[in-house]
Amino acid sequence: MSERIEDIAKKMVAPGKGILAADESSGTITKRFEKLGITSTADSRRDYREMMFRAPAMKEHISGVILYDETIRQNAADGTPLVKVIQDAGAVPGIKVDTGAKDLAGFPGEKITEGLDGLRERFAEYYKLGARFAKWRAVIDVGNGLPTWGALKANAHALARYARLAQEAGIVPIVEPEVIMDGPNSTHDIDRCYEVTAWALDTVFDELFEQRVNLEGIVLKPNMVIAGQKSPKQASAQEVAEKTVKVLKASVPGAVPGIAFLSGGQSDEQATEHLNLIRQLGPLPWEVTFSYGRALQAAAMETWKGKKESLGAGQKAFAHRAKMNGLAALGKWTSKAEKEAA
Ligand code: 13P
Repeated sequence: MSERIEDIAKKMVAPGKGILAADESSGTITKRFEKLGITSTADSRRDYREMMFRAPAMKEHISGVILYDETIRQNAADGTPLVKVIQDAGAVPGIKVDTGAKDLAGFPGEKITEGLDGLRERFAEYYKLGARFAKWRAVIDVGNGLPTWGALKANAHALARYARLAQEAGIVPIVEPEVIMDGPNSTHDIDRCYEVTAWALDTVFDELFEQRVNLEGIVLKPNMVIAGQKSPKQASAQEVAEKTVKVLKASVPGAVPGIAFLSGGQSDEQATEHLNLIRQLGPLPWEVTFSYGRALQAAAMETWKGKKESLGAGQKAFAHRAKMNGLAALGKWTSKAEKEAA
């Protein structure tokens, strides 16, 4: 019998574990590789991801892995499907299904996430390939007069349509409305981020309700409430944690099993510290954990640098961040633990 989406969602946010977002499109990962002088080919992308999926730290700290279309079809160097490598590590394989954020016609400076056409058929195929959860990211930039209601509503509607199709296919949707901290504007302070995040979450949950999405079978992937990267007024870590919890409590129904934050351009250690402080503000109505891309992978990629002889060191770097974030998801991270293991 197929597993219930409510149970898959719970597994994705199991205490002390979080999600590895390894779903960079080939274009995005190529840019990251090139910065480090790594040649980007289907094989090198595979080798890099296989390095992480085979790290012993997966079993302890990673509940799920978000894959990109190329990766979900790839085999490890020894011929084992990467999906099986992930399952054998006790994690749930997931898939990014949006096809990216494009300029929204009529709304200068705003984006709409595409990918709804043909999505029912794509979900059927991804299910067969082993995916049991999916991801769709809406991008909400903050600026003078931005976001607009029209763009926010269109993005929330698309998220809800995606989420309902995922559930129909037996797949848990990760619902990701990201108020970005590193957009072209990004001079906003934390209170403006709070205001926009509240508006975005309320709009998204309205749409989820209208599209008959089962809230017990989703995982929310929000931004933390944080000042824009270019803001002259940066907030303390404690303020980030408090305002993040405040907005989530006000806007996220208790029926949602779990919240898995994105890192969004925070430094590795910042993303860990913020999650830890958030967790310490408990008890919270939902499980709270990480679904980090850059903040889980940056050190591993830099250590590996595309060299076979650095695979072990790259795995170690990945294991360290996975462990630190696993501790943070329990509210048990300390800067001492960070330094000891480094
Ligand atoms: P970051 O943690 O690098 O923001 O990536 C997470 C993600 O999946 C964004 O969609």
